[in-house]
Amino acid sequence: AILCSTQSTATRRRIILFPLPFQGHINPMLQLANILHTQGFEITIIHTQFNSPNHSNYPHFTFKPISDSFFDIESQLKTKTDAGYILQYLNGICEDPFRDCLAGLLAEYDEGSISCLITDAGLYFTQAVVDSVKLPRMVLRTSSLACVLSYGALPFSSENGYFNLTKEDSNYEASVPEFPLMKAKDVAKMTTNPEAMGSFVTKMLNQMKASSGLIWNTFKELEEDALETICQDFPVPSFTLGPFHKYFPASSSSLIEQDQNVLAWLDTKAPKSVIYISFGSVALITESEFQEVAHALMNTGLPFLWVVRPGIVPGSEWLEPLPEEFLERVGDKGRIVKWAPQQDVLAHPATGCFWTHCGWNSTLESICEGVPMVCSPCFVDQPVNARYVSDVWKIGVFLEDGLDRVGIEMAIKRVMMDKEGEEMRERINSLKEKVNVSLEEGGSSHQSVKALVNYISSF
Ligand code: UDX
Repeated sequence: AILCSTQSTATRRRIILFPLPFQGHINPMLQLANILHTQGFEITIIHTQFNSPNHSNYPHFTFKPISDSFFDIESQLKTKTDAGYILQYLNGICEDPFRDCLAGLLAEYDEGSISCLITDAGLYFTQAVVDSVKLPRMVLRTSSLACVLSYGALPFSSENGYFNLTKEDSNYEASVPEFPLMKAKDVAKMTTNPEAMGSFVTKMLNQMKASSGLIWNTFKELEEDALETICQDFPVPSFTLGPFHKYFPASSSSLIEQDQNVLAWLDTKAPKSVIYISFGSVALITESEFQEVAHALMNTGLPFLWVVRPGIVPGSEWLEPLPEEFLERVGDKGRIVKWAPQQDVLAHPATGCFWTHCGWNSTLESICEGVPMVCSPCFVDQPVNARYVSDVWKIGVFLEDGLDRVGIEMAIKRVMMDKEGEEMRERINSLKEKVNVSLEEGGSSHQSVKALVNYISSF
């Protein structure tokens, strides 16, 4: 264990945590809860019934489900990826049940025994609720720092034209003046509903500023410049104690069962020979993109482990859109599963490349195992992350023009076979070293944990 238990520091006060009900947000929130528990805090998790975490994996926590009616969201998630709309809707319907739940908790525990509430940054409505009962709120932001800077800088409006660009537009490839690292075509990928996204982002950023402090799943050495800007822009303390999965793995908060058989299959493969493909828990791809992926994998001839989450291709149950004879042609060279033990796969010596949608958890998990990436971002923070991976840290190749078999094959070969890929591997291994140093006694993330515990204890 990286953290020693220091029960005395916090005198066993209670922290209430409330995650956004999506895999990429639940994982870091429950990891943070575990980190705080080792530091001597009691933990209560408020959660929606939609995507409920598995209580039995956390006998040391208390859980409070709030009532919700999410059938609407579930069906929308199958076809739409309009995060701005869905997140605002969630903020609306959670408000009353959350207020009641919090009032119940305040009545249940002695006065002063609850230190604070920690919510996902996306649950901005909670700030007004805690203000009315005078409880401090800390915010967990589960993305990179750079993502928040891009959200603050970019004009989310259909008027500026970024969000309805096509390849034919002259500025499609140009960098955007508001956030020059990104090209207009990257910004276009972030949302299909810029007004909803802009309205959500404004509320989230305002309520982050109104909070008592910000907790980030990143580490200082990875995003040093961005951290400086964040500290200037947000007038509350920031704590960068990530990557959280290095303290506690994501497997115990997995909402889908992870297929453990893949590890024995990886054991049969040569070192760094396998491409691991996963686009996370919410991204969707079209049937023709799915087929391009399959053709590209056949054409590279390299072994692969492909996570096809049921529902990733709207309108299909699972593997129906695969090209004919795909499975016979691939044989034992390829493995397709519904959900994988991702951290173990990335840590396996046979894994040579991660073709990812660049969700922030996936990006961090890849960095921590020194696995270079091919990036196919779908929306929200993913295009920013992909730009950092390819242009800033130079640890991967960005498939910036979408999924076509020729482009995919070239990108994979650049990472797996070219000298350029070797250099990416060296750079990502050096970041991996930096992560390890930051987590050791005296390292930046380790110090940040201590600073956070002291800060919360001062409430
Ligand atoms: C979402 C957003 O899409 C992402 O951009 C944002 O940064 C966080 O919220 P998601 O798309 O699910 O998350 O991606 P990601 O952040 O990468 O999180 C996925 C998590 O699921 C990771 O912790 C990963 O280890 C886990 N996972 C993924 C599995 O356990 N098995 C799998 O097969 C795939």
